[in-house]
Amino acid sequence: MSYPYQIKSLEEYHAAYKKSVENPEAFWGEIAANFIWRKKWDKVLDWNFKEPKIEWFKGGQLNITENCIDRYLETMGDKPAIIWEPNNPEERTRVVTYNRLHKRVCQFAQVLINNGVKKGDRVCIYMGMVPELAYAVLGCARIGAVHSVIFGGFSAQSIADRLDDAHAEFIVTCDGAYRGAKDIPLKSVIDDALIGNKTVKRVIVYTRTRTPVSMIKGRDVWWEDEMEHAETQIEKDGVVSFPAETMDAEDPLFILYTSGSTGKPKGVVHTIGGYMVWTNYTFVNVFQYQREQVHFCTADIGWITGHSYILYGPLSAGATSIMFEGIPTYPDAGRFWDIIDKYKVNILYTAPTAIRSLMGFGLDPLKGKDLSSLKILGTVGEPINEEAWHWYDEHIGKKKCPIVDTWWQTETGGTLISNMAGITPSKPSWATLPMPGVQPLLVDESGKEVTEKDEHGLYKGNLCIKAPWPGILRTTYGDHERCRTNYFATYPDLYFTGDGALKDDDGNYRITGRVDDVLNISGHRIGTAEVENAINMHAGVVESAVVGYPHDVKGQGIYAYVIYNGHHGDDEMRRKDILLTVTRMIGAIAKPDKIQFVSGLPKTRSGKIMRRILRKIAEGETENLGDISTLLDPGVVEEIKNGRV
Ligand code: WT7
Repeated sequence: MSYPYQIKSLEEYHAAYKKSVENPEAFWGEIAANFIWRKKWDKVLDWNFKEPKIEWFKGGQLNITENCIDRYLETMGDKPAIIWEPNNPEERTRVVTYNRLHKRVCQFAQVLINNGVKKGDRVCIYMGMVPELAYAVLGCARIGAVHSVIFGGFSAQSIADRLDDAHAEFIVTCDGAYRGAKDIPLKSVIDDALIGNKTVKRVIVYTRTRTPVSMIKGRDVWWEDEMEHAETQIEKDGVVSFPAETMDAEDPLFILYTSGSTGKPKGVVHTIGGYMVWTNYTFVNVFQYQREQVHFCTADIGWITGHSYILYGPLSAGATSIMFEGIPTYPDAGRFWDIIDKYKVNILYTAPTAIRSLMGFGLDPLKGKDLSSLKILGTVGEPINEEAWHWYDEHIGKKKCPIVDTWWQTETGGTLISNMAGITPSKPSWATLPMPGVQPLLVDESGKEVTEKDEHGLYKGNLCIKAPWPGILRTTYGDHERCRTNYFATYPDLYFTGDGALKDDDGNYRITGRVDDVLNISGHRIGTAEVENAINMHAGVVESAVVGYPHDVKGQGIYAYVIYNGHHGDDEMRRKDILLTVTRMIGAIAKPDKIQFVSGLPKTRSGKIMRRILRKIAEGETENLGDISTLLDPGVVEEIKNGRV
């Protein structure tokens, strides 16, 4: 079995691209016809970026789980859909076939119904990387509930904010999660998040670590009991089945919170039809997936990469997807290579930060590991430096595997710019060409298209996209205006990505990184304002300014300048207190790598912090700071330079 829309040559890519731009409705209509629809759409695309209003396959009806599971039961029910590798390599692997996945998702759909969840309700999922997380996500999709998965590293405060923003009444969690040598008490974090909460009606708790948990009568129930009960309810003649709800193509599928340059994280909303087509199309084409292959995406399902390329993309393509509970360095730095050897992995999709961290362990962890099954390598999350690219190519791909550098965002649903493995050329550290349907445009500060090359013969500008692709976000939950101002207002009639990019004469793109106040720490997005707000919560802090600086492994590190006015403890003590405050407010992933105490911040006369200067100092550049004469107090710069940490 093959995919009729899988592009097989460079010529086919160019032809598909041309058609997708000239006649998007015909192009996407033909692709969407390869899925199961209960009712065909009335119109393929209706849009304007002003409001914005974006509707794909309007009037069409479907259920995404039918496309990800049911349609494969007859022909390949015994094929593994998910292969689960536990944190501890000694523990038993779990192989979830399409049949088994169907059964569990149906059971969990009934569990949700039994607990009062209705179509359109928001369900918050805060679990480790266990197969039950996949059942929970897909169970929501089966009944038309909107899932909002929260990464296990976020704090109780972050969860409380997200519950509140989404008006979520239901939570699915675990007692705890294993990550490397750590055992994270997820349920107890949820308990903290729920102090004072009056809207959450039900918490379903799956037992993973057997960590003691407080189960609150009338609110908390055990996953295992609920699943058992549901099974007896819906079993008929030995078959467990639950009908998939009929959904509109433009009904929301999920919310995923992500950081921007201002305020609290926003809930990016993806809808069913377009997201399904987009994740499937990009999965099949970028990785050139072949039916029997084993795909290993190392991301966590708490992030968009896991949503799109562990679950929806691969499953909708009938693929075998590996779900790994642990971390690359546990029990040792050879873990990824063990997994590839053990399951004969064909496609490895990981982040530059993981590659750089594993590079640091040298070649010993690779000894005796058979990586010959690998056919295709991928990276995502941040620009990949050439050194890491070559290491990946040479030592993992043995120079035989194309590397796809996939550029995309939570908001884009799936990959927008990437080479297609073995089909379109790769270029180290370049994301290269846009997917069919994606029309990038580089603009200058004023929004004018960049038409002049720079001194290196490249076009350089802010990366925008001219027209919608099926996977684009539709809104930010509960605040459509925020969606408009964030993405569609900087440059009229364009989607602004927040990234800067270079383009060469062949139309290849190289992403240079964020041009807004968003940091990319180990491929995770964190807003500087968010970290500042967290630091400022600490009692002794008067003011703070946060910038990014180059970090060997994480890509970017967090550098915080803090004005402190308390009398409590010495600097070391204060640093620790601030780190703990940030951990409480956001989570350990947002902890500054460096904190410098200062007596003032470089501000203009109008009171605006000159981040450019702070960024340069954090980067180690203390000479060419540019014009500082407009500063309110130029003297403070000297102090900051001398106090660099
Ligand atoms: C930001 C989006 C896409 C899923 C993971 C991150 C950066 C992402 C690349 C790449 C250079 C990249 C961008 C983007 N980014 N992929 N291949 N090359 N930069 O999703 O948290 O929404 O972050 O990650 O800066 O805007 P996210």
